[in-house]
Amino acid sequence: MLNDKRISIIGTGNMGAALISGLICSGSSKPEHIVCTDVREDRLEAIQKEFGVVTTTDNLEAVEASEILIYAVKPQIMTSVLKETAPHLDLSKLIISIAAGVPLTAIESCLQKDLRLIRVMPNIAASVKEAASAVAAGKHARKEDVQLARAIFDSVGKTIFLKENYLMDAVTGLSGSGPAYIFLVVDALADAGVKMGLSRQEALFLSAQTVLGAAKLLMETKEHPAQLKDRVTSPGGTAIAGLHTLEKGGLRTTLINAVEAATYRSKELGEMMIKNFSEE
Ligand SMILES: NC(=O)c1ccc[n+]([C@@H]2O[C@H](COP(=O)([O-])OP(=O)(O)OC[C@H]3O[C@@H](n4cnc5c(N)ncnc54)[C@H](OP(=O)(O)O)[C@@H]3O)[C@@H](O)[C@H]2O)c1
Repeated sequence: MLNDKRISIIGTGNMGAALISGLICSGSSKPEHIVCTDVREDRLEAIQKEFGVVTTTDNLEAVEASEILIYAVKPQIMTSVLKETAPHLDLSKLIISIAAGVPLTAIESCLQKDLRLIRVMPNIAASVKEAASAVAAGKHARKEDVQLARAIFDSVGKTIFLKENYLMDAVTGLSGSGPAYIFLVVDALADAGVKMGLSRQEALFLSAQTVLGAAKLLMETKEHPAQLKDRVTSPGGTAIAGLHTLEKGGLRTTLINAVEAATYRSKELGEMMIKNFSEE
């Protein structure tokens, strides 16, 4: 899919480095076809040594070098980087933003020209090539652009395509923020194991591996979670006793509330971002 297309990554922090690793390890890109930038020369040197990619501290040079540009700087400096590179952007380039909470409308109002824009919301699991990412397209993005963006982010996990841009807030509330919820669940389960006499190390391992195994089972069997839950719940057994307690504690409602709160917060931050982008 990516063939020999050149990809520039603007801002090579956690996400940028995860993408470089994913693209090269999956064989989707060759190191010489990836250009990455950062403000920190020591970081670029380390990335160059590890992956053999082309590096530069000059964002304009990177923009000029490639037809696919991935903006992976922190949301708060997106405006300055977009403004810096804007004169060099045109419809010949595919522009992908992964900045959390920055809606495409904010980017459009900042750049003030017709461009092929794509927004992707990955999550932190990109660093272990298990990200859950959603891809949404701007007005001028083509079908092939969505396929390219998906091919890039499939190299660090799995992607879905969102027809509606506004649903990116729900994605941020669910899979974007989701790893934090699961870390809390794993930590709480480990606490429970310790309370019941296991060592911290044993409890943490069992807890994390249980989450991993349950997720793998869901993905591989494609069975509904309720069906799998029924399969492991024997009459009068231990699982149903535990499940009853979770229902009494309102786990289901608490999780729904958490995703709802994070979705609204993402929307709120996005609105602030649009205001700032148009004021700057
Ligand atoms: N990490 C996640 O789990 C995650 C999930 C979803 C979306 N995202 C989004 O992905 C983007 C990157 O996140 P991250 O965690 O990879 O952040 P990060 O580690 O801070 O990476 C951003 C990099 O860009 C560099 N930078 C700063 N100013 C620059 C400039 N003018 N030109 C080029 N590079 C510049 C930063 O250097 P300094 O550190 O020296 O400033 C840093 O190395 C963010 O917009 C974030 O919202 C991240």
